[in-house]
This record gives sequence, structure tokens and C-alpha cells, in this order.
Amino acid sequence: MGFDLHQQALDGCDDSLRAALAGAGLPVDDLADAGRSFYRFSCDGATVGFGGLELYGEAALLRSIVVLPDRRGFGFGHAITLGLLDEAHRKGADAAYLLTESAAAFFQSLGFHPIARDEAPAAILTTRQAASLCPASAALMVRSLPA
Ligand SMILES: CC(C)(COP(=O)(O)OP(=O)(O)OC[C@H]1O[C@@H](n2cnc3c(N)ncnc32)[C@H](O)[C@@H]1OP(=O)(O)O)[C@@H](O)C(=O)NCCC(=O)NCCS
Repeated sequence: MGFDLHQQALDGCDDSLRAALAGAGLPVDDLADAGRSFYRFSCDGATVGFGGLELYGEAALLRSIVVLPDRRGFGFGHAITLGLLDEAHRKGADAAYLLTESAAAFFQSLGFHPIARDEAPAAILTTRQAASLCPASAALMVRSLPA
């Protein structure tokens, strides 16, 4: 990748995070709940996107991955996802899960594969993302760590 991506921890109440997620149609109702970590990703001092993590022992839920509309198609989405996978692994996770409605092919190119709901740990299935915020039609995907 021909760029340096800077990753900065962020409060879940951050307005720019909320606006980017809402603009992309991603859930915002649980941003301030405990147990979530969010990050701003920037390149040359300008924000390019955001991403988040929930950790449940050795299982991580990747969430809130968004690249700002005018920054899409330059590799930032891949770099953000890899940054989150690295962070999850450093915090002790050996598997990363996510839910997506429209980007399954994107995540497949990053090593994720779809699984049935009953194949995921209960801790992932009972997250607000899985249990209520994401539509039942959202694909549940997993990949092992490290990336
Ligand atoms: C999905 C998203 C993060 C990708 O970010 P990006 O910076 O454009 O991605 P990259 O530049 O790293 O990768 C681009 C590649 O992914 C593919 N891609 C991008 N979005 C895709 C999608 N929704 N579905 C399938 N493929 C997608 C592109 O076609 C391109 O493929 P190519 O390399 O073969 O040309 C971005 O489109 C986005 O923010 N979408 C809205 C929010 C969202 O859906 N988030 C995921 C759910 S948490």
C-alpha cells in the first residue's frame, strides 16, 4: 500500500464517527455502550475512515468499518480492516467476526467467509449488533487470526 495510515482511539460519542456511520447506513444506537473500542484512521492528516471492535475473550467483533465516500477505492477499506484485525489479535483474539449487509464480497477478499448463526459463539450472537441492530438478513462472517 502506498500510504501511511494513522490509527487513533476515539470516543464512541464522537460526532464525526456517528455522522460517517449514519451516512453509510450503519448502526449508531450502541456507540456509547461499554466494551467497544473505536478508531479514526487518517492519511496525511486527513480523516479517511473509521472502524471499531468488541472483544469477547478470544472472539472479536469487527464493526463500524466505514471509509468516507470520497476516499473509497484507494485501499483504505482493506488497510482499516487489517488494522482492526491486528489490534484484535494483539488484544488476545484468535478469531474475528463481523456482520455485513452489502460488503460480503469485500470482506471475503480479506479472508473472511460466511458462517451460519449457530456456528458463532454465544458472546457474538448476543451482541447488540447481531441480536438487534443489524437486519437478520445480514451475513455473519469469520476469519482466524493473525491476519
Ligand atoms: C466497504 C468499504 C469499507 C470499502 O472501502 P474502500 O476503501 O472503498 O475499499 P478498498 O479501496 O480497500 O477496496 C476496494 C475493493 O473492494 C471492492 N469493494 C468496495 N466496496 C465493496 C462492497 N460493498 N462490496 C463488494 N466489494 C466492494 C471494490 O470493488 C474494490 O475491488 P478491486 O480492488 O477488485 O477493484 C466502503 O465502501 C464503505 O465504507 N462502505 C459503506 C460502509 C460499509 O458497508 N461497511 C462495511 C460493513 S461494517
